[in-house]
Amino acid sequence: MHQDIDEVLVSEAQIEAICLKLGKQLSEDYKDKNPLFIGLLNGCVPFMSALIKRVEIPIEIQFMAVSSYHGGIESSGDVKIKYDLERSVMNRDCVIVEDIVDTGATVKTITSLLLHRGARSVKVVTLLDKPSGRKVELIPDYIGITIPKRFVVGFGLDYNEFYRNLPYVGVLKPSVYIK
Ligand code: PRP
Ligand code: MN
Ligand code: MG
Repeated sequence: MHQDIDEVLVSEAQIEAICLKLGKQLSEDYKDKNPLFIGLLNGCVPFMSALIKRVEIPIEIQFMAVSSYHGGIESSGDVKIKYDLERSVMNRDCVIVEDIVDTGATVKTITSLLLHRGARSVKVVTLLDKPSGRKVELIPDYIGITIPKRFVVGFGLDYNEFYRNLPYVGVLKPSVYIK
């Protein structure tokens, strides 16, 4: 285990099982819909990659770069679009792919934006759900696992841009961010 990690919260094997289950579910729910999976960079990358391997129907993938944390350990609630989609979402069934839903501000904002742009439907799949952090009313449609009120990193989740490459989700030692 990495020296800055206190505890592994979601192991590689658990993540694999989650992706298999969600992939199957999405394949059933979106059969014949040619859904557009929209990954929110940067955090979505490992989950998007693992999830789509388990989806058994034709899908398209695209990305947006969105930021709400601006560095620290608490979400700012102020969502900035740093890189936008390159194609229209008009009449498309969209699935937002996230590593974590915390305050809910990111997916809430992007959901409204996509609907405003003419998407037929917008649903959210997230590896981690942290309901204790919620500031806007939002329940993700597809949840990998619900986690407690801890600051976690790994499998896409960062602290000051580091730890995204860990193959598991772990609790960061407070000594790393309390100086
Ligand atoms: C993190 C995470 C989610 C969002 C969740 O992204 O990847 O996208 O915050 O927080 P919220 O529910 O409170 O909006 P961040 O803004 O840190 O950008 P990143 O994906 O590049 O790390
Ligand atoms: Mn993110
Ligand atoms: Mg981040």
